[in-house]
Amino acid sequence: MPPASFPPSSLGERGNPDAIAILCDEIGREEAITFARFMEVALYHPEVGYYQTPARRPGRGGDFITAPELHPFFGITIARQIAEMWQRLDRPDPFVVREYGPGVGGMAYDIIAGISVNAPELREVLRYRLRDVNRHRLAEAMSAMIEVGLDDVVSVEEPSRDNRIEPVTGVALANEVADALPAHQMIWTGDALEERWVVWNAATGWFEWETRPLSPAVQATDPMGWLARQGVDVASWPIGSQIAWVPALDNWVREISQGLARGYGLVIDYGYPASELYRDHRLEGTIRAYAGHTVSDDPFQHIAEQDLTVHVDFTRITGVAAENGMRSTPVVTQGDFLSQAGLGQLLVRLQQEPETDMAEYYRAQAAVLRLIEPAGLGRFRVVGLMKDVAEEAPLMGFAPVDLPDALRI
Ligand SMILES: C[S@@+](CC[C@H](N)C(=O)[O-])C[C@H]1O[C@@H](n2cnc3c(N)ncnc32)[C@H](O)[C@@H]1O
Repeated sequence: MPPASFPPSSLGERGNPDAIAILCDEIGREEAITFARFMEVALYHPEVGYYQTPARRPGRGGDFITAPELHPFFGITIARQIAEMWQRLDRPDPFVVREYGPGVGGMAYDIIAGISVNAPELREVLRYRLRDVNRHRLAEAMSAMIEVGLDDVVSVEEPSRDNRIEPVTGVALANEVADALPAHQMIWTGDALEERWVVWNAATGWFEWETRPLSPAVQATDPMGWLARQGVDVASWPIGSQIAWVPALDNWVREISQGLARGYGLVIDYGYPASELYRDHRLEGTIRAYAGHTVSDDPFQHIAEQDLTVHVDFTRITGVAAENGMRSTPVVTQGDFLSQAGLGQLLVRLQQEPETDMAEYYRAQAAVLRLIEPAGLGRFRVVGLMKDVAEEAPLMGFAPVDLPDALRI
């Protein structure tokens, strides 16, 4: 039975009525749903999910614009790293870049432009595959690629019916995808880790949290065991501490590995290694909701009309990668990664080009600062994964940084 008070009388800022009805109906049948299920419907439901609808979303809003949207230098710097990976693999032909969550393909375009200029021989053998859950974005990306004559190199990769992924030699790349995977919410009650479920409050006529035992999906991945192995002392946490737990991240890392016969993964996102993630103010929970130009920690508004994220556990990525036959680089900040991979050189070169006008240069300079700023996009993390790759010196983006912390911008 659907909750008696549905539908709420005034939807206002509450979100997409169809998504609300679907969630409400499911809660009516199940009593409670996990937050991962709530997120799955709000973001990925085939008809109403935020990531499935035709509406073109702004970037993550105002100050939270994604790095590729900020300046082409982001993608061009990644192109430098990809070219080095190609060299390290002995210049395979073909060489596939499989980009997860490319949206309208802005970063893909910049990467191909960077490769065309700096590694023309790689451009000859490059196959760039777009893999996104949003068909509308993929269609937009492909029509833009056709318009600029890149459809010889770019294609859409459809998930196969049996969910198998074709193993390729190349790079699996993802910027700001992992943080939108459906996340369970766990809470420390003082005695045990329990889960925050989503229920319907008939009196208020709206969704609310309710603490219940862990769902089977969470239990199956043994979060307590994992946290203990990372040296996280859950018993010392303040009562009410909350963390996200994302079995979907494990599946995704497994898929990255299965999709690589030989090659690299490159994952860029907002998150931390376990030692930094599960402590201090982050124990208040890391759900972030982006609607228009505002960010909040309230997932129960603008339902299916706002982006939902949680901070990514990079130690979990490297742990699951190891279980699936991949080695990992150290987890580095985006600021360090871009600096080491040559972002600054792009700016210097731009300054030296006679045709560069001042406005263009200052725009690029401002973007570079934002991309590496430790309190801004620079604090994103980057990790490289390696499958069947010889152990060699660190990849350029992961080379140790000599600069003392005090001298970093
Ligand atoms: C925040 S956007 C980032 C877009 C782009 N990578 C950027 O940095 O501007 C997240 C993108 O990931 C896609 N996405 C979300 N979950 C995905 C998944 N499981 N597999 C592939 N794409 C996914 C969304 O449709 C969306 O295009």
